[in-house]
Amino acid sequence: MYVARTIVESERFLAPARKAHKETGLVPTMGALHNGHMSLVDCCRGENEITVASIFVNPTQFNDPADLEKYPRNPERDLEILSSAGCDMAFIPGMRSVYPAPDNRTFDFGKLGRIMEGKYRPGHFNGVAQVVSRLFSIIRPQRAYFGMKDLQQLAVVRRMTSMLNLPVEIRACDTVREGNGLAMSSRNELLTPAQRENAGLIYKTLVDASNKSGMEPGELKRWVTRRINSNPFLEVEYFEIVNESDLQPVEKRGDAEGRLVGCIAVRAGSVRLIDNVFFPNFEPL
Ligand code: PAJ
Repeated sequence: MYVARTIVESERFLAPARKAHKETGLVPTMGALHNGHMSLVDCCRGENEITVASIFVNPTQFNDPADLEKYPRNPERDLEILSSAGCDMAFIPGMRSVYPAPDNRTFDFGKLGRIMEGKYRPGHFNGVAQVVSRLFSIIRPQRAYFGMKDLQQLAVVRRMTSMLNLPVEIRACDTVREGNGLAMSSRNELLTPAQRENAGLIYKTLVDASNKSGMEPGELKRWVTRRINSNPFLEVEYFEIVNESDLQPVEKRGDAEGRLVGCIAVRAGSVRLIDNVFFPNFEPL
């Protein structure tokens, strides 16, 4: 696997590939890689001749400095994992390669930017759009791969890509989970064993909620919140039932436009966990 730490090094590998009309897929990550990330790499390898994974802990998307400080980092291990997964190039840039000057752009994602993660993590999606647009400019992939675990991020990236007219196809991959159902996340490394075990309740509750087809969203929201909060290790930050199409909250079953998704953020101590589940049974009466 070729490892590029600067744009010049990246071009050394990618320019000849572009010349040979090889299609490139990009998997953007912040490292501390787990099987969720690797499923994106697998998916990318299946659809492109060249797979590039980037590892960059992007400061502009962290609204909480303590979160940035404690974010798990393990670049040597990450490179080994990527290499054995058959990734062709790892891009592991420093701050100055990605931001030679401060990025002062602000993106307006409209209503999408003001709900859920947008509401609870102000500035977060602006930072995501800044870094992802820059990675797209540097690597110039035909396709880029994102996880459904971060459903709102996926929608924001799609919006940014079309706002800037970037010729990149955004591909979505399913959420990969631990044995107890907890969605894999780099932040899971920061949980104590007891927190990690108890956090399995998040997914279990979402699945049970998705099967309660008789309840209205308000009632269901209270049920989910009460059940998770009754666990001493967990505290719900928000739980919303939203349309798959625009991620806007739905108050009445009758107002659903297509499939609904239950999206949640939960705190386990100082660690913030997010997850979502599609509600297949939750159709208008
Ligand atoms: P990171 O949290 O490292 O995630 C990188 C990619 O892996 C994202 O697209 C995320 O949705 C996906 N992913 C994480 N956990 C997953 C899981 N359990 N199953 C499937 N996919 C999963 O998301 C980011 O980094 C950053 O915001 C980034 C897009 C790289 C911009 O800095």
